[in-house]
Amino acid sequence: MRTRPLKVALLGCGVVGSEVARIMTTHADDLAARIGAPVELAGVAVRRPSKVREGIDPALITTDATALVRRGDIDVVVEVIGGIEPARTLITTAFENGASVVSANKALLAEDGAALHAAAEKYGRDLYYEAAVAGAIPLVRPLRESLAGDKVNRVLGIVNGTTNFILDKMDTSGAGYSEALDEATALGYAEADPTADVEGFDAAAKAAILAGIAFHTRVKIGDVHREGITEVTAADIASARRMGCTVKLLAICERAADGASVTARVHPAMIPLSHPLASVREAYNAVFVEAEAAGQLMFYGPGAGGSPTASAVLGDLVAVCRNKLGEATGPGESAYTRLPVSPMGEVVTRYHISLDVADKPGVLAQVATVFAEQGVSIDTVRQQGKDGEASLVVVTHRAPDAALSGTVEALRKLDTVRGVASIMRVEGE
Ligand code: NDP
Ligand code: HSE
Repeated sequence: MRTRPLKVALLGCGVVGSEVARIMTTHADDLAARIGAPVELAGVAVRRPSKVREGIDPALITTDATALVRRGDIDVVVEVIGGIEPARTLITTAFENGASVVSANKALLAEDGAALHAAAEKYGRDLYYEAAVAGAIPLVRPLRESLAGDKVNRVLGIVNGTTNFILDKMDTSGAGYSEALDEATALGYAEADPTADVEGFDAAAKAAILAGIAFHTRVKIGDVHREGITEVTAADIASARRMGCTVKLLAICERAADGASVTARVHPAMIPLSHPLASVREAYNAVFVEAEAAGQLMFYGPGAGGSPTASAVLGDLVAVCRNKLGEATGPGESAYTRLPVSPMGEVVTRYHISLDVADKPGVLAQVATVFAEQGVSIDTVRQQGKDGEASLVVVTHRAPDAALSGTVEALRKLDTVRGVASIMRVEGE
């Protein structure tokens, strides 16, 4: 074993970074044996230097992250600050100054992954980011390496723990969205500002990263159709239950049947209770990968939290250190297909539409005519009348999303339709 240690600069020492430092210290001997050289924490960049950080030598703490990555003797930079800047500049500066990078930063990779990969390649460094998607669950490496010889056609899953916790609470307790969000906040699942999670930005970033790797193309967060869970009501969940379904926030990345384009989307959807994703409870994540030769693979586990996320970071750190010792680099960006990302309107899906209508002759025929005019075929209709009004629940067959949303718009214009109570896509059948 080499005695000279590999030097690691840790950028950020919050929820994830503090766990990375702890595992590096407590498992130092095992890590050294697995890598073939000791790994030494050479510096820790933070914002608030006076904060007490258990188990970390105060002499390592600095607020000057730029100077740390410019030192020239750093082998690996672990970036767990988050956000776009200064993380982006720090990562490229690390590459320029001889270091490879491990990052958990989904927002940055989904925004600017191509430029970061190009910088890594230019300077002959590694860029690893297993922790950026679904926390502890090995997903990036299986897609990047294990499935590199196969053709992935679809990735579908639950990639945000906070929203899964909220939807699960709504489903199991009958709580409304606000009540379930309050519980998620009280238990530390949701952040004080939950926007990134509940509006689907976090899941969209992960979908962009997954789609890019799975289909060997470039997908940015702006290419991902995104709807969050803030509009999901207790009535939607109850309606799903009556259909034998539950509601999940899904990330769905698909290669078109003709192979000429891809789609990536994040939105709430009803899935049958018999579907394996329906039993993913609380803040867990689960992802299905469908590949031509492998068939259907399922990945399941904790998608967030300091310790689970640090596990993924440490796995990358070991891989990057091994590469350093072998004077090699791991796989870089594989985006040779350059497939266009189609808009949501071209995605073929199914709708569950709940309408409040007047309960009088001809209403059902009027509603059915709107569907026919938009070329949307109806699968089932359920009507329940009450005091001259009726609730009409229509589930469609598969149709382009543009035709389905056009149908809803046309329904809203009918005098006999008092209101559209809920619209939800149906997946997983
Ligand atoms: P935290 O907010 O807990 O920690 C961020 C850390 O970065 C803090 O230590 C903070 O310093 C430091 N920091 C912020 N700005 C600067 C700066 N300009 N210079 C130096 N240090 C700075 O974030 P998390 O640990 O939760 O997340 C880190 C990354 O991991 C993010 O990209 C996130 O998306 C990703 N991730 C997080 C998961 C989780 O469950 N938390 C799961 C998967 C990925 P200080 O301590 O002084 O405030
Ligand atoms: N906020 C994310 C989630 C964790 O709830 O899944 C980080 O990816």
